[in-house]
Amino acid sequence: MEDLFLWMMEDEMWFSDAVDMLLVAMLKDESTSLHFKQPQNARSLVGFQFVNDILTGHPMRCYNIFRMTSTNFRILCQKISSSLNTKKTSTEEQLAIFLLCVGHGCSIQKLAGDFQHSAESIYGFFKDVLKAILSLHDEYIKVPDSSAGVHPLVGPNSGNYLFKDALGAIDGIHIQAVVKEDNMERFHNRKGFLSQNVLAACSFDMLFQYVAVGWEGSASDMRILRWALEEGGFDVPTGRYYLADFGYTNTSKFLSPYKNHPYHLAQFNRRPRSSRFVASEDLYNHRHAQLRNVIERTFGVLKMRFKVLDRMPKFQYRIQT
Ligand SMILES: *[C@@H]1O[C@H](CO)[C@@H](O)[C@H](O)[C@H]1NC(C)=O
Repeated sequence: MEDLFLWMMEDEMWFSDAVDMLLVAMLKDESTSLHFKQPQNARSLVGFQFVNDILTGHPMRCYNIFRMTSTNFRILCQKISSSLNTKKTSTEEQLAIFLLCVGHGCSIQKLAGDFQHSAESIYGFFKDVLKAILSLHDEYIKVPDSSAGVHPLVGPNSGNYLFKDALGAIDGIHIQAVVKEDNMERFHNRKGFLSQNVLAACSFDMLFQYVAVGWEGSASDMRILRWALEEGGFDVPTGRYYLADFGYTNTSKFLSPYKNHPYHLAQFNRRPRSSRFVASEDLYNHRHAQLRNVIERTFGVLKMRFKVLDRMPKFQYRIQT
């Protein structure tokens, strides 16, 4: 996982160029086939060739372009195909269009040109695939029940056994939002940009278990959590909890660190080794910070993998969420 992550960072520079080059090459083929007066066939061929070329090509290229392996791409196709209209355009092509949009922030206009569909059709495919994927939500994003096993990271020999009942960590993340003038104030966050504040819980394996979307950037993390618990269906099983930072009130279901003690890992690292943990609360906070960090890393991977989150198109807000 870690290796893959580094690899992705190194290649971030060139892979969107690679998509462009591939598409340009295919459009050249396309223009030759136009001489044979087969615009209709040629049109469906562009997308078919493109997708097929990538799925059967080098595994890393597929991963870079679609942000998933070809195996996962095919599995996802099977899961969503029954909710799509595939009479004229295949599931594979529609999913490819969707993934180029969310994975690289490719605009609808650009995709329309590259895949030779109208912008309306492209946006239609995008929305259909989005809806189909959202319908899988309950299958993949769920809080485990109280019988869930203790994760090895907090297991008996981990040094973190104190947190043995932790399911993972929660935090809020600000995702860029594009909103109308009269809404701007509400969406203005403390960091000074317009955003949607998203609350998420993830496991120690970096899998999302709960997500609350749509809240405006000015909403506080605690307010969103309160909503999630009261109305948003966020049910943490009895006896289990998530780790949360200072922005959240300490409760039996969300353990936050001790105030007035160092918390950030850098604060500990600055101290000499022999006096790193002056009080037992320091040690608690240090272990807590190390474990809670999984949510930061998960957000990091999410933003890296789906570029649209940093380059939000002017979609309806509902679609953005
Ligand atoms: C948070 O609450 C839990 C249980 O209610 C308690 O055991 C823990 O000591 C509290 N943590 C802090 C930092 O106060």
